[in-house]
Amino acid sequence: MAQQEDVFKKIVAHAKEYGFVFPSSEIYDGLSAVYDYGQNGVELKNNIKRYWWEAMTLLHENIVGIDSAIFMHPTIWKASGHVDAFNDPLIDNRDSKKRYRADVLIEDQIAKIDDKINKEIEKARKRFGESFDEDMFRQTNGRVAELVARREALHERFSKAMNDNNLDELRQIIIDEEIVDPISGTKNWTEVRQFNLMFKTEMGSTADGAMTVYLRPETAQGIFVNYLNVQKTGRMRIPFGIAQIGKAFRNEIVARQFIFRMREFEQMEMQFFVRPGEEMTWFKYWKEWRLRWHKALGLGDEKYRYHDHEKLAHYANAATDIEFLMPFGFKEVEGIHSRTNFDLSQHEKFSGKKIQYFDPELNSSYTPYVIENSIGVDRMFLSVLCSSYEEQKLEGGDSRVVLHLPAALAPVKCAVMPLVRKDGLPELAHEIVDDLKFDFSTHYDEKDSIGKRYRRQDAIGTPYCITVDHQSLEDRTVTLRHRDSMEQERVAIDDLHKIIHGRVSLNSLLRKLK
Ligand code: GAP
Repeated sequence: MAQQEDVFKKIVAHAKEYGFVFPSSEIYDGLSAVYDYGQNGVELKNNIKRYWWEAMTLLHENIVGIDSAIFMHPTIWKASGHVDAFNDPLIDNRDSKKRYRADVLIEDQIAKIDDKINKEIEKARKRFGESFDEDMFRQTNGRVAELVARREALHERFSKAMNDNNLDELRQIIIDEEIVDPISGTKNWTEVRQFNLMFKTEMGSTADGAMTVYLRPETAQGIFVNYLNVQKTGRMRIPFGIAQIGKAFRNEIVARQFIFRMREFEQMEMQFFVRPGEEMTWFKYWKEWRLRWHKALGLGDEKYRYHDHEKLAHYANAATDIEFLMPFGFKEVEGIHSRTNFDLSQHEKFSGKKIQYFDPELNSSYTPYVIENSIGVDRMFLSVLCSSYEEQKLEGGDSRVVLHLPAALAPVKCAVMPLVRKDGLPELAHEIVDDLKFDFSTHYDEKDSIGKRYRRQDAIGTPYCITVDHQSLEDRTVTLRHRDSMEQERVAIDDLHKIIHGRVSLNSLLRKLK
């Protein structure tokens, strides 16, 4: 685990050093849980968004996109339940004056017990070697059995307190477990209170009577309130979907793990409107289709798993997460939710407008049911970055850091390099760049040794390096170096476009989803 933490630290440093992600407002010492994307990061992020957008709107005839405003009428958040229930349970330590999420303190305590169990198991595995039987050990070892029982009891008590929204009980668990503040080391805790995660601001001048508005905590509500507009103007017939990519804001209390949990982040959400009674069929469809979208990137099928929700929100009748194996464990990247007709019904109630669909096949009107898929762009970015990062030892004692980014997502697709800065090689290299740049993001690089230039491109995940040498002047061929294998082949300049296109185009990735 410690080793994985080290790798994660290196990935965060690499992201900064190579222009992927910078801490926000860094020259003012940063702003907690807010990040900026650099020159390479923005390209990778845009490619992720393009992959999602085109998979939704090009591959599905019945899905269209919108771009709704971040500010919306405040009653929307009353109707959606966010004003009353979008809360985290908070606790303060009176000595350090630091604020924590009570549920996270308890989850960390459970994780500590898990660590202890795993340590006992690893110790025994080393002792017994090949003949070690983990199941048997778990059942028969007194210390492990005791820890497992303690963990189960704690987990059950915690789940019940969360389900019952019992803040006193959450505090009592913290006291009983003797959880200390990591900063002050004391158990001097306040009561647990609910804290709303929405950011508020004011619209209009105070003299006119300013209105309190919220920075949207999800993009989905912008889709719900435009349901009628899109359905009518697009003459959409159920089933159909509305997709949107945009910023969302949450005043997260425990903001950790780099861009995993941010206060300003981006979501890609699609609400799919279906007939009541058909929602489970569509839930299954989207659950399977979304995992296929992830796996098509080739980051490793074993890195994904579903996590079906046992406890459902009161308006949902099914929900699952797609989790990805980050360096800090399996974590949610996307949620797929069957939200019934809750949101549209609530907006009908609060706005007083009829939000119904007349189904010509059934000859009746109803409030559509909704299947939602909601994925965080930044979490997706993090999963791609972490699984692509590799420190490789090479023959001859050399080493390199390489990002094995899916070629279609790479910020730069190819780099063209003259072997030397003379003899007409830079001119020919520029000629190649001037042709390729119309279709691919192409870099020109003539500084430093060719080896150093290759390393720079490996570090940002460029799939191809094209080297122009003296032979190129004679026969119009170049060497094409492949990032992952480092193999080089001699190819005609005229064939470059076709070869590169086959590997790096978004089109070839989308075709895998057929
Ligand atoms: N409309 C449903 C919705 O917003 P959610 O599970 O709260 O559901 C969906 O969020 C996705 O948004 C998550 O799976 C995650 O990828 C991303 N997300 C949520 N909060 C985030 C945060 N604070 N920072 C980064 N991404 C976040």
